[in-house]
Amino acid sequence: MLADKHILLIIGGGIAAYKSLDLIRQLRKRGCQVTPVLTKAGREFVTPLSVSALAGSKVYGDLFDLTDEAEMGHIELSRAADLIVVAPATADLMAKMAAGLSNDLASTLLLATDKRVLLAPSMNVRMWEHPATQRNLVTLKDDGILTVGPGEGDMACGEYGPGRMAEPMEIVAATDAALSDGPLKGKHVLVTSGPTHEPIDPVRYIANRSSGAQGTAIANALLALGAEVTFVTGPADVAPPMDATVVAIETAQDMLAAVGAALPADAAVFAAAVADWHVANASDSKIKKDKDGLPTLNFAENPDILAAVSGMEKGRPKLVVGFAAETNDVQANAVAKRKRKGCDWIVANDVSPETGIMGGSENAVTLISDDGADVWPRMGKDAVARQLAERIAQALA
Ligand code: CTP
Repeated sequence: MLADKHILLIIGGGIAAYKSLDLIRQLRKRGCQVTPVLTKAGREFVTPLSVSALAGSKVYGDLFDLTDEAEMGHIELSRAADLIVVAPATADLMAKMAAGLSNDLASTLLLATDKRVLLAPSMNVRMWEHPATQRNLVTLKDDGILTVGPGEGDMACGEYGPGRMAEPMEIVAATDAALSDGPLKGKHVLVTSGPTHEPIDPVRYIANRSSGAQGTAIANALLALGAEVTFVTGPADVAPPMDATVVAIETAQDMLAAVGAALPADAAVFAAAVADWHVANASDSKIKKDKDGLPTLNFAENPDILAAVSGMEKGRPKLVVGFAAETNDVQANAVAKRKRKGCDWIVANDVSPETGIMGGSENAVTLISDDGADVWPRMGKDAVARQLAERIAQALA
């Protein structure tokens, strides 16, 4: 699995940097191409010459090195690899990543990348156990960052406990696992996301507060498990997933057509907040306020895309997942909605303004299926997405 893979190895400034020299050897022995980045602090522990000799590659280090930028820009460097491994990942590097800082080459690459990142933390036991580091670790895991170690044992500083960097062979195994094909490889999953815009006239529309964050997170989590994802999205606030096939639409009618065109799929997740109605008498030209007094809008019902796909006699996805955005009697309404729409699962959430869920970064959901109601604790939308993607992978296995 490792043969011909390209690893960008960021070596931070810790005593464990000496182990990274062996890590480079082990990765190259297995056919990996290793591009090393040595931080300023890392240079205090190992020399660019030894790193370069073992990697058989130029060593990158300076964000503002014009020669490097001319040869290969830092954005390209962050994306050219199959995986980024940070070993040793110091407390400082983890804090920068968790905060989204980018004030040197290593942190800039980590912020700019669209690839998976594997951290091998290494630091003094007190630094590892410090609430700030543990907080950063939770944030990084929520962001989908992978970790290996640290192990427990005697440390170079004379103390004992967790904080010791994983051994090179453990990091090789974690690298291999991170590069393996996910459980959804070969599966096509359709995801709808974001709000729809229903025109009143060419400049005005009716919409809702959906940001598209949960649908985007779900698509990213499915991609991370190896799925091929078609992402049908209304005008959302968040950027669509980079590796999905993105179909941008505006209205519910457009979304229905795009969903139809994207089928067949093994599974479909309807995370979009589709407008229930459109303006039947939408005007082709801008409605002027001084013409005939207040305008009257006549509404017509939009097609129910989830119900339409759930009810397909031929070519129905094996698993159809709907969402239920409710403001009261969440569970009872969601159970009824699942029945009414004919989908397999409903992910129910309370979108009352006081929950801060719609447009926010967290979600508290209940998964309704044939097995009953499974209440998940409130967590980040990314974590909800990962848990849901794993459940989908189990259902399609
Ligand atoms: N949905 C859809 N097409 C629509 C309306 C909703 O595909 N025209 C999907 C949503 O993507 C979601 C589910 O149906 O997965 C439930 O959406 P929700 O807004 O909670 O339900 P509604 O059908 O709009 O019912 P109500 O507004 O009465 O709660």
